[in-house]
Amino acid sequence: MKRMLSGIKPTGQLTLGNYIGALRNFVKYQDEYEMYVFIANLHCITEYQEPLELSKNLTDAVALYLACGLDPDISTIFLQTDVLAHAELGYIMACNTYLGELNRMTQFKDKTLKNEKNLTAGLYTYPCLMAADILLYNANYVPVGEDQKQHVELTRDVATRFNNKYGETFVVPEPLIAKVGARIMSLSDPNKKMSKSEETNKGCIYLLDDLNVARKKIMGAVTDSVGIIQLDKQNQPGLYNLIEIASSLTERKMEDIINEFVGQGYGKLKAYVADVVCSELEKIQNKYHEIIESHMLEKIMQDGAAKANEIANKTLNDVKQKIGLEIKY
Ligand code: TYM
Repeated sequence: MKRMLSGIKPTGQLTLGNYIGALRNFVKYQDEYEMYVFIANLHCITEYQEPLELSKNLTDAVALYLACGLDPDISTIFLQTDVLAHAELGYIMACNTYLGELNRMTQFKDKTLKNEKNLTAGLYTYPCLMAADILLYNANYVPVGEDQKQHVELTRDVATRFNNKYGETFVVPEPLIAKVGARIMSLSDPNKKMSKSEETNKGCIYLLDDLNVARKKIMGAVTDSVGIIQLDKQNQPGLYNLIEIASSLTERKMEDIINEFVGQGYGKLKAYVADVVCSELEKIQNKYHEIIESHMLEKIMQDGAAKANEIANKTLNDVKQKIGLEIKY
């Protein structure tokens, strides 16, 4: 069975973008692949997080993994800091990554261009830690949204270079990016990615949003003045985004949705998308509340950490031997 690994960084509440671009696919693939899914808590602190809020977001993220359908009996679910090997291999990867490679990472470049103050060294070396996350588990595939593709490609480069230098050590992973839903856009600005870090909350749907609030966000989504229901990503990006959201959640073809609403007003289409999203959120939220009340998280995370540590430590020991970090007695 081929292995798959992915993670989410809960710097806020998980979003519909996280669900459609990533989490939903983890669930889809878990029967077919050996699945490792973790909570990337070390990645969260590359930017300041209010400690109580961070801790709550981490707990909610695990509960949401389960509520969305990840099954701890077949998938390994764990917290990054429960496996110390991540930080150690992350450092080793940083010693095998060139400054030029990190300078080319668009996520870091965007933040620099925005003149954000107090950018940390952790943020800069973040892709090295992400490479370690993936390589520790010898994952064949990494299911992610489009924005993470560049990081997985860097992981491939670093792994290949390491293998050439020190001998075959890592499996070189491939990003797995869905054809539909890999980049869900903000409802308030369809030229920007839907993201946890958005300033106004209007463009981003959170998985734990009150259903009425979620519906309002969709009904108020920015569209265009063309007034025709059709698929034109360039000129009608807001409409395209709404159809893409509905298509991902229902698994209906985008064209079929268009055909159903052609000739009608945007309001009708928005109401349909709102129904689809709210019915999905409702299912997830009901399960989320059951999970939180059941106090089952601790045991699941302990079991996941034990399984993850076994594989990760093996890889880390192999790496340390290959690069000569150990004293032979
Ligand atoms: P993060 O937490 O930003 O996002 C988690 C996953 O959700 C996807 N995603 C989206 N997909 C579609 N549309 C959107 N609007 C949208 N927003 C987010 C992301 O592409 C991602 O797949 N660096 C990673 C976390 C990470 C990781 C890893 C992932 C750390 N180590 C190892 C895979 C493997 C991140 O910040 O994702």
